[in-house]
Amino acid sequence: MTEGTDAQDAVPADGERARRARPISFVVAIDGPAGSGKSTLASGLAAYLGCAHLDTGAMYRAVALAVLQRGIDPTDARAVTAVAEGLDLDVGERVIVDGEDVTAAIRTPEVDACVSHVAAHTDVRSTLVGRQRSWARAQRGGVVEGRDIGSVVFPDAAVKIFLTAEESERARRRAAERRVAAPAGDVAATLARRDAFDSSRSASPLVVPRGAVVLDTSEMSAPEVLAAAIALLPAPESRKDPEYTFGYAFLRNLAVGLARAVFRVRVHHAERVPQSGGFIVAPVHRSNLDFLLAGTAVRHRKMWFMAKEEVWKSRRLGKFVEAHGAFPVHRNIPDRVALRRAEEVVDNAGVLILFPEGTRREGPMVEDLHEGAAYLSLRSGVPIIPVGIAGSDRAMAKGSKFIRPVRVDVVVGEAILARSVSPSGRIPRSAVRAMTEELRVALEAVYAEARTCRRSRSHVRRMTRK
Ligand code: DC
Repeated sequence: MTEGTDAQDAVPADGERARRARPISFVVAIDGPAGSGKSTLASGLAAYLGCAHLDTGAMYRAVALAVLQRGIDPTDARAVTAVAEGLDLDVGERVIVDGEDVTAAIRTPEVDACVSHVAAHTDVRSTLVGRQRSWARAQRGGVVEGRDIGSVVFPDAAVKIFLTAEESERARRRAAERRVAAPAGDVAATLARRDAFDSSRSASPLVVPRGAVVLDTSEMSAPEVLAAAIALLPAPESRKDPEYTFGYAFLRNLAVGLARAVFRVRVHHAERVPQSGGFIVAPVHRSNLDFLLAGTAVRHRKMWFMAKEEVWKSRRLGKFVEAHGAFPVHRNIPDRVALRRAEEVVDNAGVLILFPEGTRREGPMVEDLHEGAAYLSLRSGVPIIPVGIAGSDRAMAKGSKFIRPVRVDVVVGEAILARSVSPSGRIPRSAVRAMTEELRVALEAVYAEARTCRRSRSHVRRMTRK
């Protein structure tokens, strides 16, 4: 979020990426005390929706840090407001203040102790609230977390969620997050003090907003909280993919329906596939059927893919596959045109399917991945969805022209989120390599899970036959 009232000025640091996030045209407001799971839920929901996410607590923390650095008294309303008004503030995955990355510096005990005082000043709040509203206007919606989002900043938010959790559980989470050795009692005491202050201040105290759904997360895992929040979202029809035309849907449903019938496909964790926004589907590759089988997990979205350029030798065939999402790639050379097309797809909030293994492989290991998926993800800020497919190697083995009607299990992994690299937009090789490794590990895990699901299904079948 850059200073100023104009909506464009308020685009956050990863501005380029945020601009490419799909406008969802509604706000999801997430409020709650510290350690209730707001940030985990907010980033999970943003990945699911393919939209932008704003952590407003980080904005108050950035002001508190600047106040501390300037030696200003945090209770001096006028001086603190002047700091808040003058800061060049970028809050994205990284937090940048006046060009400096303060992502880690705003999460220290000193800032914890100061931030509630800073956040209690009415004028500081109205400055930051103005920036928060500009951000949402520029993004055309998004997921916003804080303490007063559903009550003050966006009282008309389409979805309002208020998270709570037992105090001891919140203290445990906060201590784990900070990796502090401090006894849980100390963390709990600081947390309780801050909550009491935030809840009793006169300016926008922490309250359950009117119309909010309260979720007590004390005994819920992060995926359970996410699933509960997803159930509260507006119907997917209102977030329709414009590329998902009737003609495309007809052929897709026919092909997927046939595949499902022949291979008795079971899709596990289909809810992990984002409903809107750009993302990359990255399946393991053991068979020519993998494209179709991965398609069983992606509903209501058109999937774009690279196809070997030879296909376009037949103009008719070229036209046909192009209408169904294909674009040409020259193999064996670095094809910049194809890469640019792929970038355009995700930049325009489309779905791209890429096989990081490049060609069909054999065996349970996932290795030697191409780095294209990670590069695109980091460049465009879109998540990668790893997909494990078990049984496709038997359904149509490498070298075989025939299909065998065996069972297939498809497991969708958790989204791998692109972490912002640097505000300049430069993508270091080390970041691409690290993300590729993260993808490799995730792919090996989902592939193993898919094989386990498949085995247990076969086992149950054998048992019921006996
Ligand atoms: O979510 P957090 O712990 O990072 O928030 C830091 C502080 O900022 C918190 O003590 C209260 C304040 N805050 C606020 O007053 N209003 C918001 N919308 C977000 C945070």
